[in-house]
Amino acid sequence: VKNTMTPIEPREQWGTKFGFMLAAAGSAVGLGNIWRFPFVVGEGGGAAFVLLYLLFVLGIGLPLMIGEISIGRKGRANAMDSYKVISPKSKWYVNGLLGVIINFMILAFYSVIAGWAFYYFLLALTGQIISNDKDYGAAFSQFISHPFLPIITQILLMTIVALIVVGGVRKGIEKWNNILMPTLFILLIILVFRSVTLDGAKEGLHFFLNPDFSAITSTIVLAALGQAFFSLSIATGLYVTYGSYNQSQSSIPKNAAGVVFLDVVVAIMAGLIIFPAVFHYGIDPGRGPDLAFITFPTIFTDMPFGSIFAVFFFFFVFVAALTSAISLLEVPVAFAKEKFRISRKIATPITAMIITVLGIFCSLSFGPLSHIQIFDRTIFGLFDFVAAQVLLPISGLLLSIFLGWIWKPLGVKEEIERENNTFPFFKIWSFLIKYVIPIVIFIIFLEKIGLI
Ligand code: PHE
Repeated sequence: VKNTMTPIEPREQWGTKFGFMLAAAGSAVGLGNIWRFPFVVGEGGGAAFVLLYLLFVLGIGLPLMIGEISIGRKGRANAMDSYKVISPKSKWYVNGLLGVIINFMILAFYSVIAGWAFYYFLLALTGQIISNDKDYGAAFSQFISHPFLPIITQILLMTIVALIVVGGVRKGIEKWNNILMPTLFILLIILVFRSVTLDGAKEGLHFFLNPDFSAITSTIVLAALGQAFFSLSIATGLYVTYGSYNQSQSSIPKNAAGVVFLDVVVAIMAGLIIFPAVFHYGIDPGRGPDLAFITFPTIFTDMPFGSIFAVFFFFFVFVAALTSAISLLEVPVAFAKEKFRISRKIATPITAMIITVLGIFCSLSFGPLSHIQIFDRTIFGLFDFVAAQVLLPISGLLLSIFLGWIWKPLGVKEEIERENNTFPFFKIWSFLIKYVIPIVIFIIFLEKIGLI
């Protein structure tokens, strides 16, 4: 196993037992909750989608997360080599490699949206976000289709991300997450109150919470599955990588449950803010990726101290995006660092640069390159679709087979129960991992491609 070579830098560890949990929550909570969740719910027709999403989060996401963290803590190596430590003679490390590729793809388009969030934060800070006669839809389209403005914010954002990742896991990643997550929470609670007390909030709540099962199609099922994976950062090798810095005394199931809980709560809060407002202001819930960027400024315009709230809110969206982007860059950096035996200082800028170049194409597909359509999608849409709805579920399927049939539940249990920890619901977990998860993902795929 390659892992026995002396690494060029000593392997890092989180500073405290909570370091992992906070960093993992920082990865999970991000634009996936505040930007992507509301718009895919809107496109998916509302509450039935939400219900499917919750089902997938609990039945597929949480069990996979527990397994993925365990792979990292056992392997103590990057997303690919950890598989080699557990199963030296097999080819399962390919799934780790797939994770690295997925991270590349996600960060390419994620950095575009994070750049938008960064721009909106700057607008809010300079008092330019709110104006009573502003058409937020038009202003937003003008910005994202601009030939270079969104690229500048994207490059700035990637520079910040790279600088933090160069700092390493303890100084760079851990420190940031500790302060910012709790504050985001408080702000969201205030905004939920504001939104659910608007006139017409009922209609929005109905759309968001009252499922119409006849609306469920194979497209919606796959989209909900993709959203569950995306939002939890599952099956990307992230939890292998962050888990590999984990201290052995921390409880993996508890950490995972905590991350899932936070992630779901933030997504639901985002929905509770957006949908009542969408119905109150007559915005189309199914309008797509610009939904959050139009709805939030509209809410602030009409709210006491709106311009102050806007500054705080967009600051937190920016930070939430930043902590997720950091995790997206950390996976390929950890891989490159160990694989090519180069230092963090070298691996980080090179990886960040390649991703930024890919990302620029995604950004341009909202403007100058919007005419390029591949399989009926823009470049951005294609990156999002392939990563979230094709590669993530495939990687999740492979992950469950690896955990259930190669490493096997008892192997996972042994890793989890180190240092007197327990593995509650182990029997259910192992049943889900071995049978339910692979079969369900497989059926969803067959259904989607029209084979059943
Ligand atoms: N889960 C993150 C979010 O919701 C995005 C992400 C996906 C991060 C995959 C890492 C890996 O914003």
